[in-house]
Amino acid sequence: MPPRALRGQLLAALTALALTACAAQPAPEVEAHESAPIESGRDYHTLANVDEFRVRHLALDLTVDFAARRLKGTASLDVDRIAGTGRTLVLDTRGLDVSAVEWQPGAGADAGVRAMPLSFSIGPEQAPLGAPLSIALPSTAKSFVVRIHYATRPEASGLQWVVPAGTAGKLQPFLYSQSQAIHARSWVPLQDSPQVRMSFDATVRVPPGLRALMGAEHDPAPGADGVYRFHMPQPIPSYLLAIAVGRIDFRPIGARTGVYAEPEVIDAAAHEFADTEKMLETGEQLFGPYRWGRYDVLILPPSFPFGGMENPRLSFITPTVIAGDRSLVSVIAHELAHSWSGNLVTNATWRDFWLNEGFTVYLERRIMAAVYGRRRAAMEDLLGYQSLENEVATLPPAEQILAIDLRGRDPDEGVTDIPYEKGHAFLGWLESRVGAASLHAFLKAYFAHFSFESISVEQFLAYLEPELLSKHPGAVTAAELHRWIDEPGMALAIRPQSDALMRVEAVRTAFLAGETTAAALPYARWTTQERLYFLNNLPASVPRAQLDALDAALHLTDATNSEIAFSWFGIAIRNEYAPAWPRLEQYLVSVGRRKLIVPLYTSLMKTPSGAERAHAIYARARPGYHPITAATLDAIVH
Ligand code: BES
Ligand code: ZN
Repeated sequence: MPPRALRGQLLAALTALALTACAAQPAPEVEAHESAPIESGRDYHTLANVDEFRVRHLALDLTVDFAARRLKGTASLDVDRIAGTGRTLVLDTRGLDVSAVEWQPGAGADAGVRAMPLSFSIGPEQAPLGAPLSIALPSTAKSFVVRIHYATRPEASGLQWVVPAGTAGKLQPFLYSQSQAIHARSWVPLQDSPQVRMSFDATVRVPPGLRALMGAEHDPAPGADGVYRFHMPQPIPSYLLAIAVGRIDFRPIGARTGVYAEPEVIDAAAHEFADTEKMLETGEQLFGPYRWGRYDVLILPPSFPFGGMENPRLSFITPTVIAGDRSLVSVIAHELAHSWSGNLVTNATWRDFWLNEGFTVYLERRIMAAVYGRRRAAMEDLLGYQSLENEVATLPPAEQILAIDLRGRDPDEGVTDIPYEKGHAFLGWLESRVGAASLHAFLKAYFAHFSFESISVEQFLAYLEPELLSKHPGAVTAAELHRWIDEPGMALAIRPQSDALMRVEAVRTAFLAGETTAAALPYARWTTQERLYFLNNLPASVPRAQLDALDAALHLTDATNSEIAFSWFGIAIRNEYAPAWPRLEQYLVSVGRRKLIVPLYTSLMKTPSGAERAHAIYARARPGYHPITAATLDAIVH
């Protein structure tokens, strides 16, 4: 038991959390909420009446129409009434064309009753949330099923319809979804909130020669008739709902792991991700049982806007991590780690997003340390920490808070290094105070305790206190916790130590002092992480002669590793290094991963000649980008 005072302080800290969250400087868009304190655990990003009804199961029957760029069919929702006697069910939608809603009779009082049409209406669009679909219910039944007949629109924010030219094979189109954070509502009418979990079944009808995939149990053999069936017994939040259709093969890696990819990339992908089974076994040892059956990865076309997306049973992965040498597989460790942090224990709202991502980065580095050694994990730690330092130097203070207030904004705007690297740094700091063994045991218990639940930061803190802090009296103060969760900056973060990168640092210093030439750098012997450290830490301005020498010796303009190319192109843009332009253009036209292109466009826009180049490139590249990426870039490349 902790001393009373500490418990009292913690309670005070919890209260302060709720209060200071709204005292933080609001962005202009959130002004409407300025005076209202933020309510812990309340999802401000759904229009659905989740306090009255809960969707428990979803049954989809969808036909994929590539010519019309539409999914068309039905979504049947099994709904429980959890409070009141209201006669209106409100669901989230964004740009859906709803043609009919039916009441599907259930058991009990309804037995024998035929399906009947229900009246419904779609309210006005409330950006960024979409439009509410209100359905008039014929009774106050406790449980019922509604079936919605609908079609998506070509511009659905959660779908990308990729033309054949945007795929590896260039033969067939490709479709994939990206539901996180609030894009599921653009392709399925549902309660689009991370605190609602549902199981699902789906039938997906696709054109001949294409395969449909979802993050669910299915037959890995291609269906001859173009009809694919899926069954997901574990309840998932809507942001994890995922679909992909394309010319896709399967290759097993281990007993529970495998790769789906276009035939052109499947060999490279299977080689790159050969350690996935080992990572899964490691995850189970460290964090507890793997609750999802299989773990497969799907390699998407290069326009995929993220490094990876942790769709349960089937992570979606960018092809830009296929470097040939497994140097970027931390993305797999990361998405796999979400099987515990995120998918099993889920953020209750987007304010709690760091519980997903910060914990996952911490788990990711533990998997990397176990599979590839501490040296590799320590380098990735330090690179992440430096990235956080750079972000903290530029982000406004209100954006640097872990428990961020995103009311009135698109939750995608909260995706910065703060939830990831500051969240991770918080756990690293906690580890330094209570010891690794104690924190690791706590985390394992945490995943078991909250499995298949969605929790807020306050629920996490309320569990942390008795289950960890009380066992280490005096190790952590309430003021420190408060500072971590509720205040900007990273003052308490502990700088990671990497001996390997210290040696690179010495070489970097010598090079900048003119004591070593570019040709004499041990670059060929360095790992990707050492190379990245060297490049990331070059000064803002590098003389042309040095750039020429580096490029000649290290072939940076021709780098095939997507992260190294990214780092080099950043240097090239800052220093107007023209020899890099053709490759830069090729990179920006072929890669759609936001993290790798948004900063390059931003940097180009800082000078008139760069802006001119950005405009020309963007005109060529935009048609191939995902709607989310195009929306971000439209605001930057004006
Ligand atoms: N869940 C995220 C991706 C995401 C977050 C999509 C928020 C939409 C909204 C995924 O797990 C992720 O973090 N991906 C990273 C991978 C990296 C940290 C290894 C990415 O895409 O860069
Ligand atoms: Zn993640």
